Amino acid sequence: MSHDLSLLRKFVSPEIVFGAGCRHHVANFAANFGARKVLVVSDPGVLAAGWVADIEASLQAQNIAYCLYTDVSPNPRVEEVMRGAEVYRENNCNVIVAVGGGSPMDCAKGIGIVVAHGRSILEFEGVDTIRVPSPPLILIPTTAGTSADVSQFVIISNQQERMKFSIVSKAVVPDVSLIDPETTASMDPFLSACTGIDALVHAIEAFVSTGHGPLTDPHALEAMRLINGNLVQMIANPQDIALREKIMLGSMQAGLAFSNAILGAVHAMSHSLGGFLDLPHGLCNAVLVEHVVAFNYNSAPDRFKVIAETLGIDCRGLTHNQIRGRLVEHLIALKHAVGFRETLGLHGVGTSDIPFLSQHAMGDPCILTNPRESSQRDVEVVYGEAL
Ligand SMILES: [Fe+2]
Repeated sequence: MSHDLSLLRKFVSPEIVFGAGCRHHVANFAANFGARKVLVVSDPGVLAAGWVADIEASLQAQNIAYCLYTDVSPNPRVEEVMRGAEVYRENNCNVIVAVGGGSPMDCAKGIGIVVAHGRSILEFEGVDTIRVPSPPLILIPTTAGTSADVSQFVIISNQQERMKFSIVSKAVVPDVSLIDPETTASMDPFLSACTGIDALVHAIEAFVSTGHGPLTDPHALEAMRLINGNLVQMIANPQDIALREKIMLGSMQAGLAFSNAILGAVHAMSHSLGGFLDLPHGLCNAVLVEHVVAFNYNSAPDRFKVIAETLGIDCRGLTHNQIRGRLVEHLIALKHAVGFRETLGLHGVGTSDIPFLSQHAMGDPCILTNPRESSQRDVEVVYGEAL
């Protein structure tokens, strides 16, 4: 009997622990993996915020040796992954813990790949390229957006080529994700806006992705509800832990959805932009989102209508053209409400950069699951609209 493989769906997820204060238990999880020496990956901002000290205190309390590697840039680079792998080997580590935003988490995933294979991280670009399991990996996110702590994605910046490349594999889903909403207290309002919009984009792109299905849709819709309903309030009330929990939960739900349904043109185009200009990932997505939604709408109108309804838009009696307009207006209004008013032009992107950006976006795996099949010319037009 033959089956249509395109109809099959799978769902991968790490072991997730969610709740205020769970970061303090990291040593228990490291001990479960037989930790002899832990490589703790982070960055200077997270170190200064005090989250690394909490991890150190937990490891010290259980007499687990560790060394720190915190030389990670906001967009983690090939050289930083390779240097981190050297530190891991020099110190004879056998477990990796990362605490931070998407950058330290992606760097840690990259380090795991490199120490397992003994080859350059550049050799693993693409889908399902990992052959040897990485060392045990525990991730502790300190932003509510990237979801690197639950996803099958690694994004690394290749500075020589001025581009980012993606590695997509279930082998980079961490063993444990400790999601502690208290750690998001160190996000400033702009970072909260960028990462919150990034998480909303994850949910939207996952819901209309050609890889969507019944295992991912509920997560995508719940993420939209939580982020749309609480992001503005959370930014206005940074001390409110209940709101932080809702946004962190929304981000996690979006992560589970997109990790398994994959993404679309917003991410393909934002990876290209982020590699070219070294801009924050969330900012790139926020600049592009409504332009890509307008471009994609007619390829999945019924699903975009569900998105509009989930975001609280009353669609009764409206044509699809009207719903598309309302959805675009809603996304712009939400961005303004969280204080986001950036454009690509503001960051120095000009018309002459568009062919380079578009060429790289077309090579990103996320373009393959975009609901509307896109040519390089289409992508150029959308970048042009976002200038
Ligand atoms: Fe993202």
